[in-house]
Amino acid sequence: MNRSLAIIGASQLVTLAGPRRPRIGAEMRDLAIINDGAMLIRDGRIVQTGARGEIEKLIDADCEVVDADKRVVMPGFVDAHTHPVFAGNRADEFEMRAAGKSYQEIAASGGGIRSTVLKTRAASEDELFTASRRYCDWFLRAGTTTVEAKSGYGLTLEDEMKMLRVIRRLDEETPLRYVPTFLGAHTPPDEYKDNRTAYVDLIVNEMIPLVAREGLARFCDVFCEKGAFDVDESRRILQAARACGMGLRVHADQLSLSGGSQLAAELGAMTADHLEYAGETQISALKSANVQPVLLPASVLLIGSHRYPDARAMIDAGLAIVLATDFNPGSSPTTSMPLVLTLASTQMKMTPAEAITAATINAAFSLGLGDEVGSLESGKWADFVIHDCEDYRELGYFAGIEHPVGAFVKGKLVARSARGPAGLAADSHS
Ligand code: NIG
Ligand code: FE
Repeated sequence: MNRSLAIIGASQLVTLAGPRRPRIGAEMRDLAIINDGAMLIRDGRIVQTGARGEIEKLIDADCEVVDADKRVVMPGFVDAHTHPVFAGNRADEFEMRAAGKSYQEIAASGGGIRSTVLKTRAASEDELFTASRRYCDWFLRAGTTTVEAKSGYGLTLEDEMKMLRVIRRLDEETPLRYVPTFLGAHTPPDEYKDNRTAYVDLIVNEMIPLVAREGLARFCDVFCEKGAFDVDESRRILQAARACGMGLRVHADQLSLSGGSQLAAELGAMTADHLEYAGETQISALKSANVQPVLLPASVLLIGSHRYPDARAMIDAGLAIVLATDFNPGSSPTTSMPLVLTLASTQMKMTPAEAITAATINAAFSLGLGDEVGSLESGKWADFVIHDCEDYRELGYFAGIEHPVGAFVKGKLVARSARGPAGLAADSHS
C-alpha cells in the first residue's frame, strides 16, 4: 500500500500556518497562502508544504501524486458545534414557521427539542446510528472533516448514554472525526417539569459521573436560557462536569440575555456559543477569561430571525471567534459550512479570510485539537479538501454551491464528487 501522497498544483494552498494558538485581530486575516502550492504527506500526516518546485524534489517513485489542477486546497472545516444524532426531523415546524409561528412559540406549545426527544428515545441504537451516518456523508461532501457532536435528545440516563455511544461508533466507523459533548442539560424533560431540581440532581449525581467513567464525552454543555436552565442550575452542572475532567461549553445569550456569557467567563469555559444577544459587557467578560465565542449564523437564518451576533465587535475586542453550523433538526437543519461562510460575510461583515480562520484553526483550538488539525502544517493530520475554485473567496461568494471535489482525512480520500481528482477512488465507508 502506498503510504506517501503528494498534492501538487494547488492554485492556492491555504495553509493557515501561524502561531500555535487561536488567531485574533489581524491574525484572522492572514491565511498563509502558498500560490502554486504543494504538500507532501506520509502515513496520514503532513510532512511538508511549499511551492510546487520545492515539494516535487521530495517525491520518490512510491509516492502517489494528485494534481489539484489549479484549485484551492485547504484544511477540512472543523465544525465545533453540532447536534448530529437524532431521530426523525421537524420539517413540520419549518412549515409552521413559514406560516408565522416563532421558534419559541413552537417550543412552548409542545414542539421543539421536546418532539425530537420523544422520537430519539423511541429509536434503537442501530436506528440512530443509521440516521446519523447519513448526515456524516453530508458533512464530508460539504468539506467538513471534524465535528463536535452533542447528546441532548435523550434526557434520561440510558438515552443520553445511547446517544453518546452512537457518537463513539460514528467516530470509529466513519471517516469523519467526532468530538463528543454531553448535553444532558438541553431542556428539562416533561417528567421533571414540576421538579427541575430533581433533574439537575440526576445530571450532577448520576449522568455526569457515569459519562465520565465510560469516557464518553470530552466536553459538557448547558443550554442556559429561559425555559431551559437558569444561571444557578447551569453553574451547578458545569462545576460537576469540570470536577469529572470535562471541558466546558455553554449555549449562551441565544434567545435573550440569559447570563450565559458571564457564567462562561466566570467558570473559564472553553467556549460560549450563539451570543446573538451579547453586548459590550458580555464581550469584555469573555475577553477577560479568554473564552472563545462560537457563532452560529445558520441558526439565525433558519429560524427566520434577523438578529446576528456582533462578530465585528468581538473581533475588535480581540476574541478568537469560531464559526459553526449548529446542525440540528430544529433551529439549524444544515451541515453546510460554506453556507456559514456566506452568512458570516454578508450578515456579520466578517472578511472571507476571517471566516475561514474561524471555521478551521480557531475551531480546532476550541476543541483542544489545535495541534492536530485545522491547518496544513508539518506534523498535523492531513485532513484537507480540494475545492473547485481558484481563489478561497469564491467559497462563500458562490453561495449555496457544493465546492469540494475531494475530501481527505488522514491522507485518505473519503469523499469525492464526479469532478474529483483523477485516478483516485474514494475509500468506501458504508
Ligand atoms: O443550538 N439552543 C438549543 N439547542 C439547539 C436547538 C435544538 C433544537 O431545536 O432541536 C440550538 O439552537
Ligand atoms: Fe446548539
